[in-house]
Amino acid sequence: MFTGDEIVGLDIGSSCIKAVQLTNNQQGFFLIKSVGLENLPPLAIQQEEIVYTEPVVNVIKHLFQKYKIKCKKVALSLTGPSVCVKKISIPAAPADELADMVRWEADQYLPFALDDAYIDFQLLSTPPAAKRLNVLLVGAKKERVKKLIQVVQEAGLKPVIIDSGALALENQYETNHSIAKNNVVALVDIGAGIINVNILVDGSSVFVSAVLGGGNDLTQAIQEEFNIDHEQAERIKQGKRVIDVELPRLRKVVQQSSAQIVDQIESLFNCFSANNSAKTIDVVMLSGGGATLRGFANFLARRLNLPVKLSNPLKEINWDRKTYSVPEINRMAPLLAIGVGLAMRRAADKIYRPVVNI
Ligand SMILES: Nc1ncnc2c1ncn2[C@@H]1O[C@H](COP(=O)(O)OP(=O)(O)OP(=O)(O)O)[C@@H](O)[C@H]1O
Ligand SMILES: [Mg+2]
Repeated sequence: MFTGDEIVGLDIGSSCIKAVQLTNNQQGFFLIKSVGLENLPPLAIQQEEIVYTEPVVNVIKHLFQKYKIKCKKVALSLTGPSVCVKKISIPAAPADELADMVRWEADQYLPFALDDAYIDFQLLSTPPAAKRLNVLLVGAKKERVKKLIQVVQEAGLKPVIIDSGALALENQYETNHSIAKNNVVALVDIGAGIINVNILVDGSSVFVSAVLGGGNDLTQAIQEEFNIDHEQAERIKQGKRVIDVELPRLRKVVQQSSAQIVDQIESLFNCFSANNSAKTIDVVMLSGGGATLRGFANFLARRLNLPVKLSNPLKEINWDRKTYSVPEINRMAPLLAIGVGLAMRRAADKIYRPVVNI
């Protein structure tokens, strides 16, 4: 059940910004209060970095106006190389010394300098009287966090939580699916510019990683192949007829880009296997706009020889059919996994500490 203030999950992706606000009905089930998404102009965010502030601010403002979202408090996320989530083990220490101990140990695990990072942690289950403690370490580059806060404040909003996109993905998955014992589930979000992977064993995250790449690579490849602009290439990619294109040429480009994405996912899975040799992935749950490319899920399943399913982040969430039609929600749903996870941040059952508590 939700307690405390209202919050909007605001997922600022490199091609599309999504806002999700949830509430509970009287039986305690989740309900959509507001949901909406809006595309960003290309190049405003590049390689997960906000390069041009103004279009991002404008799209956020417009999104809140268009969908009549009144709540100003937002939960945000960081993905990609500016955020790091790792399960580590540290020497046991009294509760009041844990934060210092984590900070001391964190240095060797973070891919960026400790002084340039905000860090936070959550104690994971450890046998009583153990000499070492299992900890989920989260670190985020200060510079990226500050930029994100600045942009969102310029849009008139109040950031209250900054989370890791991969953990938001997990939060969403837990609410929508029952966790089977001994099950290894790979959550894979394919955005426009980044592929996020979070692998859960028995419902707990054991491997979080990301790689640059995603749906925008295909858009660019189509643009180059047919010498057209971004907008046209996007529409062709989504199966709309814009100009006459030779289908064999289009198929070839799609095939090449899809194979590249599969290779990237496979390389992350190989990293997981290298550190968890006894575990094999049982199922891949796909989300993100890049995963909605027609035929991609089957292609990935064949290539990796694994069951692949398209995740529905709204599976256990209801909404008023008069406010949002079923086709409208179905169109948005695959893109909402991270936004929904962020919007659930106050669900008190199991909360990872956010990367930054503002
Ligand atoms: N029906 C579709 N078919 C193919 N691709 C699609 C479809 N709908 C959206 N996409 C692609 O999905 C991508 C957007 O997905 P998403 O909103 O998950 O990415 P993002 O969050 O903006 O990016 P990132 O997470 O990488 O920063 C774009 O590349 C878009 O072209
Ligand atoms: Mg995204």
